[in-house]
Amino acid sequence: MCRALPAGTLVLMLIVSTLAQALDLSPAEHAGKRLYREGLSSSDAQVSARVGAADMLVPASVVPCGSCHGADGLGRAEGGVRPPVLNWQRLAQGQGLRSANGRRYPAYTEASLARAIQEGRDPAGNQLDPAMPRFVLSMADQRNLSAYLKRLADDRDPGLSEQTLRLGTLLPEQGPLAPSARVVAAVLNDRIDQLNRQGGIHGRQLQMISIDPGPDRASAEQALTELIEQQQVFALISPVVPALESTLASRLEKARIPMIGAAPTAGRSTQIFDPLPGLDDQLLSLADYAQGNLALQQAGTQIVYADPAQAGLARQLLQQLQRRGWGEVTAAPLTEQAATGQAIFYLGDAEGFGQLTAQLQQAGRTPYLFAAANQVASQLAQVPENWSRRVFLAYPFVPGDWTPGGSQALSAMRQRQGLDGRQGVLQVSTWCAMQLLGDALKQIGRDASREKLITALEGLHDLQTGLTPPLNFGPGRRQGLAGAHVVTLEMPGPVFFPVAAYRPVAEGNAP
Ligand code: HEC
Repeated sequence: MCRALPAGTLVLMLIVSTLAQALDLSPAEHAGKRLYREGLSSSDAQVSARVGAADMLVPASVVPCGSCHGADGLGRAEGGVRPPVLNWQRLAQGQGLRSANGRRYPAYTEASLARAIQEGRDPAGNQLDPAMPRFVLSMADQRNLSAYLKRLADDRDPGLSEQTLRLGTLLPEQGPLAPSARVVAAVLNDRIDQLNRQGGIHGRQLQMISIDPGPDRASAEQALTELIEQQQVFALISPVVPALESTLASRLEKARIPMIGAAPTAGRSTQIFDPLPGLDDQLLSLADYAQGNLALQQAGTQIVYADPAQAGLARQLLQQLQRRGWGEVTAAPLTEQAATGQAIFYLGDAEGFGQLTAQLQQAGRTPYLFAAANQVASQLAQVPENWSRRVFLAYPFVPGDWTPGGSQALSAMRQRQGLDGRQGVLQVSTWCAMQLLGDALKQIGRDASREKLITALEGLHDLQTGLTPPLNFGPGRRQGLAGAHVVTLEMPGPVFFPVAAYRPVAEGNAP
């Protein structure tokens, strides 16, 4: 691939990748870092490790140091024998005994460090727990690794300095998404300003870099690269980039950057934490309601999607409905022809929803319609009257979820930023994203890293936002809410009429 690029591009890429390093590392330290994080040697030789009490030989790339001790060397609490903090200061500097996992030993030297890594013994001669692999290292590999271990404590993630923590986002300044982007910018600026006035987080002021992703996917990719490589942001928050729907997840994973904000429906990722529920869970809440109250499982049901990119999601939903006992479900793109069935689940934008109701109206039919409110909100005033109580919408939160404190804080923010009630879902989701970030950063302390941020976000349970049901995350859980309230439209009006409160939808199987 490089061969196809003009020479100038390659030079630019080299400059950029040097910039991307958080710390100036010598070539030896850099090689040591690769060994530490990926288990790869600077030579072509494969590095091996003996694991477990039985000394089974495996490639070191399967058990790189960072996988247990953390990329930051701070160890990971995983129960049982804990990988100790690998900080040169703790290991090797000063006099006196240190201790880890009940062992006591004098300071490490380079030689005794090599013995620990290769033979599993500490400076006092204590056998290390066999959970620590024994690595088979060349002298050069060992030298590189030791060199890097001395720098590990300073090798912070990008975006962190003594005084600041840099966040990034992508917000279009022109085009149809610009109004939404302005709302997001207002909420982010407001929250960051408030946090900074209170002294920032652990002594660091939050900085925000916002880049315009431009008109298309190529420009959006480039803007993301700039955030990651030139701007060196620590984490992404609430970007508005539908153009990156299918690539955002993998880009973030590759760069190991955490993001908090609306997850693309096409590409979930362990890096992305979304305060609000996914489209799939929202529609399943509607299905569960319909199943319990409208007895529609045996009616003909069609899942209609306006955007071809949502065909996959439609298929997933179809399988979920079948598993829940819905008989005749089909999925089809929105076309000129009116959709069939007595129940229609709609995926797509407001315009498509308008088209759908107009077509059905013309065909003289009023099947039950199900949709996520945030997708179709702007069309709801136009829904014809004969659909009274036949349109059901999923709402991640309703005003009933707002505590007095929450709604007061929200209206104070609106006043400061000149916002009104429009784009309420976007305001609340951005607000919650900032709360998640702030809470997690406070928890991890001053010695922050991206990995620790992810672990802290995973640990947030029953988080009260004052504006939504309590949010819950976990090791496999990246969406704070797993379902939605169900609200129906009563005509004329329309009047919004809640019919079922939020409860998490059952995973996979029938509720
Ligand atoms: C599979 C998990 C795992 C991997 C991979 C791993 N370690 Fe460890 N390491 C541990 C555990 C667990 C201990 C604690 C053993 C004990 O206390 O008995 C440990 C202990 C150590 C110690 C001793 C620290 C002390 O305070 O005495 C050093 C040094 C060390 N590891 C370095 C490394 C390096 C360097 C690598 C990569 C080349 C590495 N480890 C890879 C799990 C791991």
